[in-house]
Amino acid sequence: MIAFLSRLFARAPPRLADAGPGDAASFAEIHAASFRRGWSESEFERLLTERSVLAHRASAGSACVGFIVSRIAADEAEILSIAVATARRGRGLGRLLLDRHLRQLAGLGVRRVFLEVEGANTSAMRLYARLGFGTVGERRDYYAKSAGAATAAIVLRRELG
Ligand SMILES: CC(C)(COP(=O)(O)OP(=O)(O)OC[C@H]1O[C@@H](n2cnc3c(N)ncnc32)[C@H](O)[C@@H]1OP(=O)(O)O)[C@@H](O)C(=O)NCCC(=O)NCCS
Repeated sequence: MIAFLSRLFARAPPRLADAGPGDAASFAEIHAASFRRGWSESEFERLLTERSVLAHRASAGSACVGFIVSRIAADEAEILSIAVATARRGRGLGRLLLDRHLRQLAGLGVRRVFLEVEGANTSAMRLYARLGFGTVGERRDYYAKSAGAATAAIVLRRELG
């Protein structure tokens, strides 16, 4: 019965919900698997306690499979991080998370959203372009590569409403 229910939940589409400090451990785990420098559980805990921070998580059954976090300042927001669990990528979850997050930011009175992304991060660049972000700046050679040349950081902006 338990095995049947886990299989059922594994196939069910992920559910999106507001996130808080209780999600710090699962966010840190996905973050560590997604970025060269992972953020610790306590870093996430501090972040998710801030009043100006908005966060969503995607869950499949009891497992967290993705998240997005931004910080709001007046009528602007910055996306601080978005990541989807490796096994769940390429199935529209990043788009779902970002879309839901942007709608909620707009509802809170945010007019402009910024973020910074490594230019060589093709999936992230496609995701942001699809959701209406445009390039407003570039920092050349910003991200050091373990081998070979450094890559640029691209600053993107999306106007809301
Ligand atoms: C970036 C990320 C959040 C996207 O999440 P996702 O669930 O895989 O994305 P989606 O399935 O919603 O796809 C979004 C777009 O990216 C494209 N995409 C997804 N995976 C891709 C890949 N491996 N290569 C090229 N494009 C890809 C999709 O085709 C889609 O574009 P389209 O609408 O033009 O077809 C996810 O890849 C991730 O967690 N990466 C590691 C963390 C990261 O880099 N975060 C962003 C830092 S700024």
